[in-house]
Amino acid sequence: MKNLLNRQISSGIAIAVFSVFSASSMAMSSKPEIPAGLGALPTEIPDNPANPKTAAKIELGKKLYFEPALSASGQFSCNSCHNLATYGVDNQKFSVGHKWQRGGRNSPTTFNSAYWSKQFWDGRAETLEDQAKGPPLNPVEMASADEKEVINRLKEAGYTAEFKVAFNNDANALSYDNMANAIAAFERTLVTPNAPFDQYVRGESEISEAAKRGMNTLVEAGCTACHSGPLFTNNQFMKFSYGSDMGVKEVTGKESDDHLFRVQSLRNVAMTAPYFHDGSAATLHDAVRIMAKVQLAKELSDNEVNDVVAFLETLTGESPQITYPVLPRPNGKALTWRD
Ligand code: HEC
Ligand code: HEC
Repeated sequence: MKNLLNRQISSGIAIAVFSVFSASSMAMSSKPEIPAGLGALPTEIPDNPANPKTAAKIELGKKLYFEPALSASGQFSCNSCHNLATYGVDNQKFSVGHKWQRGGRNSPTTFNSAYWSKQFWDGRAETLEDQAKGPPLNPVEMASADEKEVINRLKEAGYTAEFKVAFNNDANALSYDNMANAIAAFERTLVTPNAPFDQYVRGESEISEAAKRGMNTLVEAGCTACHSGPLFTNNQFMKFSYGSDMGVKEVTGKESDDHLFRVQSLRNVAMTAPYFHDGSAATLHDAVRIMAKVQLAKELSDNEVNDVVAFLETLTGESPQITYPVLPRPNGKALTWRD
C-alpha cells in the first residue's frame, strides 16, 4: 500500500484525500477503514469561471442536450449516444450516428465528466465547452454541414428568446459558442453522489464482504496507481498497449504519446458496458481481467475478479433526476431536415 501514498492527483480538481484511520481515530467505530486516497465523491463540482453556471443556462443546456435539431437529419441528440436514462451511455460498442454510421470509439458517459482533466479518450478537448462544439458537425454523429446550419435550425425552432434569457439579455446570444456554453453548464450538473461506497465511507451503511475483499484486491494488485482518489482516476493519460487505436498519438502524432488514454473513472462503471475505448470488453469481468494482465502483468483468479466486480458495483451513484424538457418548435410547421 506504500506506493499509494505518493500518487499524483491532477491539478485543478479539489479532491479530499482520506487518510488511513490511525490508532487514534479508532474511536470512530462507525467509520470503516478505507485505503488511503479513496473516498466519497466530492460534493464540490468544478465550474468554469469563463462560463459560470446559472439556472437559465442550465435549463437551456438541458434542452439542447435533448435537441435533435443539432443534427442534420433531426434524428440524433446528445442523449442518443449519452442517454441520461442509462447512466450517460448507450451501451453500444460503437454508437449509431448519421445514416446509421458507427464511429471508431466507444461513447463514454457524460456523468461526472465535469471532473475529468480533459475530454475524450485521447483528451483532445480541454473543456466541456470545447467538446460540445464537436458532435453537431461530426459527419458520423450529427452531421450538420457547418455552424451556420446549426444556428439557423435553432432559430427556426424558436430558440432566440431562450438564448437571450440565458445570456445576459443579449439579443445576439444565439451563437454556436453559447450553444456549447449552455450544454457544458448543464453537463456540470450531471453528477452521481451517494453510491453505496460513498455511504460506506461516511459510515452510513455497509458493503458486502465480497466488495470489501475486492476493494483490498484493487489496492494490492496496484489498480489504484491509476484509478486513484475519490473519482477512481488520477485523471492522467497512461499507456494502454491494447488494440490498434493509438490514443493521444492519433492527435499529436508523437511517438511518446502512442497508446496513451485517459484513465477512466470507475464511478458507475457497472452501468456503462461495454468497456474500453474500442468497446471490446463486453463484460466488467473481462475488463477487470484484461486490465490486470495488460497494465499490471497479473493474472487475477476468478474469485478475485468476482470480488473486484462486487466492489466496482458499489461505485454506482444516484442518477441525476432529469425532467424531460419541452423543446421550442414553430407552430404548425416542421423544421427543415436533410439526409
Ligand atoms: C453518434 C453518437 C454521439 C453523439 C450524437 C454525441 N456523442 Fe459525445 N461522444 C461520442 C463518442 C463516440 C465519444 C468518444 C470519442 C473519442 O473519445 O474520440 C464521445 C465523447 C463525449 C464526451 C467526452 C467524455 C469523456 O469521458 O471524455 C462528452 C462530454 C460528450 N461526448 C458529450 C456530448 C454532447 C454534449 C453531445 C451533443 C452536442 C454529444 N456528446 C453527442 C458519441 C456521441
Ligand atoms: C497504468 C495505469 C492503469 C492501471 C494500473 C490500471 N488501469 Fe484500468 N484503465 C487505465 C486506462 C488508461 C483505462 C482506459 C482504457 C482505454 O482507453 O480503453 C482504464 C480502463 C479501465 C476500465 C474500463 C473503464 C471503461 O469505462 O471502459 C476498467 C474497468 C478498469 N480500468 C479497471 C482496472 C482494474 C480493476 C485495475 C487493476 C487490476 C486497473 N484498471 C489497473 C489505466 C490503468
